[in-house]
Amino acid sequence: MSAGTSFAAVMSRRGEIISRALGLDYSRFERGPLAFDYEGMMEKTGYSLEEVRAIQRDVGVGYTPLLELRNITELVRKVSPPGKGARIFVKDEASNPSGSFKARRAALSVYEAQRKGYSGVIAATSGNYGAAVASQACLRGLDCIIVQELFDSRMVGQPEIMEKGRKCEAYGAEVVQLTVGPELFYMMLRLLEETDYFNASLYTPYGIAGIETLGYEVAEQVHERCDRYPDVVVVTHAGGGNLTGTARGLRKAGADDTEVVGASVDLSGLHMASDEDFNRKSFTTGHTGFGVPFATWPDRADVPRNAARALRYMDRYVLLHQGEVFYVTELLAVLEGLERGPAGNTSLAAAFALAQEMDQEEILVVQETEYTGAGKHPTAQLTFARENGVQVRRGDPAENVPGAQIVIPEGPEQIEVRDFSLDRMRKSLIRNAVRHTGVEEVSSPEVDFLCEEINRDRNFVTAALCELQVAVKD
Ligand SMILES: Cc1ncc(COP(=O)(O)O)c(C=O)c1O
Repeated sequence: MSAGTSFAAVMSRRGEIISRALGLDYSRFERGPLAFDYEGMMEKTGYSLEEVRAIQRDVGVGYTPLLELRNITELVRKVSPPGKGARIFVKDEASNPSGSFKARRAALSVYEAQRKGYSGVIAATSGNYGAAVASQACLRGLDCIIVQELFDSRMVGQPEIMEKGRKCEAYGAEVVQLTVGPELFYMMLRLLEETDYFNASLYTPYGIAGIETLGYEVAEQVHERCDRYPDVVVVTHAGGGNLTGTARGLRKAGADDTEVVGASVDLSGLHMASDEDFNRKSFTTGHTGFGVPFATWPDRADVPRNAARALRYMDRYVLLHQGEVFYVTELLAVLEGLERGPAGNTSLAAAFALAQEMDQEEILVVQETEYTGAGKHPTAQLTFARENGVQVRRGDPAENVPGAQIVIPEGPEQIEVRDFSLDRMRKSLIRNAVRHTGVEEVSSPEVDFLCEEINRDRNFVTAALCELQVAVKD
């Protein structure tokens, strides 16, 4: 092990540590200060979709049921204009071994770790992914360490994250629990260096290729049942892997015209790295605190180039209030007999509003559910919110104030989505790309790269660059 363990010393070795812990040389995909070969990087996972499916099938991951939510659809139609109210289906990802779609990412990452001869895996995550990696690691007999950001400085832990920690330990993983702050990445680097384990990052090509099977299955199952592809697929969006992988899988299945809608809980005004705000939110993922920064600067991840690049695939981005998601969580239980966890219910809440814009013969798929239990339940979250000074009441959800008021709708007609401007995010990505690289001019291939990054034409990209006073070389 190297000598220096100060924050600065460890950070200065980050490139070398990450590359050893992945066995992947990202430098060969670089194509200039701004651009890199994204598709080349994805292909270098070395696994075809069929191989990924086989690896997952072998460990009981994937092939989850697609359920039609007939009672919720009926309720949607009651509050829709005549002829409106699409059929809503949900992909029951809670039936994966660790209780969420994250098992798909973990199945491939842990397989790859074993194939490359690592004796253990490490993941820095406070979410379902930790449980997924722990579950796959114990199945394959690998050691597992999960690093969580769990406490504020009073050592009060977020109930949902505590539940995830419990689940990781149940699978035999060692869980390192930290207070909110910059030490998460530092601690992960130190552990990787000390153990020589594999970095089972959420953001490697394996992590994303593992989710492509989800989009593929959605397309396949809807086609089998309805003889057509879904019109809309709604995806709960945070770090961007869920949306990126699902959209890529839909395309691989031929569902090119399906609209991919990202949905997040609106937590604007709360700062994710703030000790004070940390315990004033009731949703630990699927919210704007991750959704916006990751979409507009994907490479803020724990790998040099993030394989989750949501703006390449997102057709629309809609926001919900916390109270609306709590309401829909109960709706799913009492109308469909399905008690499921918060993240999937974010896209279900969006679906409830979006289906009202669509015709009755159209098909909308909510592409995941997640398990629920202990701190993930609305009761635990709402009690915790009250204890932390947040007011909880019934009323008009438009009166929600992140961190101060959770307003639970009085009726289903109050559930609405609010569009978040994709063009605003696209410009923001270009601004971040320029700022992080310090470029003053860009080449024509780099303009092409930016067009792919944000799924927009050259006119849009060159206008945005011009606003930033960046020249385009011929
Ligand atoms: C159940 C569930 N759904 C959705 C998401 C969001 O996925 P992503 O971070 O890849 O956007 C997460 C991530 O934490 C999750 O655990």
